[in-house]
Amino acid sequence: MVDFSQVEFVISAHALKQLPAPVMPEIAFAGRSNVGKSSLINTLVNRRKLVKVSSRPGKTQSLNYFTVENGLYLVDLPGYGFAKVPKKVKGLWQTLIASYIKTRETLCCVVVILDIRHPVKSLDMDLVTWLRDVGVGLLPVYTKLDKIPRGKRHAHAAALDTALGVNPDERVLFSAKTGEGKEDLIFCLAKFVS
Ligand code: GTP
Ligand code: MG
Repeated sequence: MVDFSQVEFVISAHALKQLPAPVMPEIAFAGRSNVGKSSLINTLVNRRKLVKVSSRPGKTQSLNYFTVENGLYLVDLPGYGFAKVPKKVKGLWQTLIASYIKTRETLCCVVVILDIRHPVKSLDMDLVTWLRDVGVGLLPVYTKLDKIPRGKRHAHAAALDTALGVNPDERVLFSAKTGEGKEDLIFCLAKFVS
């Protein structure tokens, strides 16, 4: 099992030519601005402040690389689809990030993070469809689980499952606040990396 606590920051890349050499597998984290990508990584690696988090959408504006146990890269991506995000960040998805996902040969999984409270938005669906088309591994994670009562979780998750066309064992329920789902996430990620 990968020890996610053995983590180090590598580089904040603003262009493909700045990416580290593709010498080990990598997992990227994608989703709408403010959905909780950076928070999820912090919880996964047990470091509250490794990645900068903000209540203001558009916090992450580059591809932030971290190594885990010197054998796996984690890549925190800028978010998409938020009206208030600066234009500069919106353009990133069409250019830098799309070509990163398409061309990065060591990218074995894109974790697509969705807010469990909300229906799938068209940009989320576009991303999922596109990942399937280009044949990159996909792991949906429904986060902010702590924000809905236990009794309503199943219905929310089932609605997202249906929209994305996934089975319950192909996605993870998660909360960066409580750490719920962390073991399941580690287990699911391991399947992509092996
Ligand atoms: P961008 O970098 O702007 O795209 O955002 P992001 O997706 O990286 O989101 P970030 O991790 O910065 O979190 C956005 C806000 O949501 C912050 O205020 C977090 O504290 C909050 N948040 C993230 N995950 C959770 C969660 O699981 N539960 C709760 N209650 N809040 C969360
Ligand atoms: Mg972020």
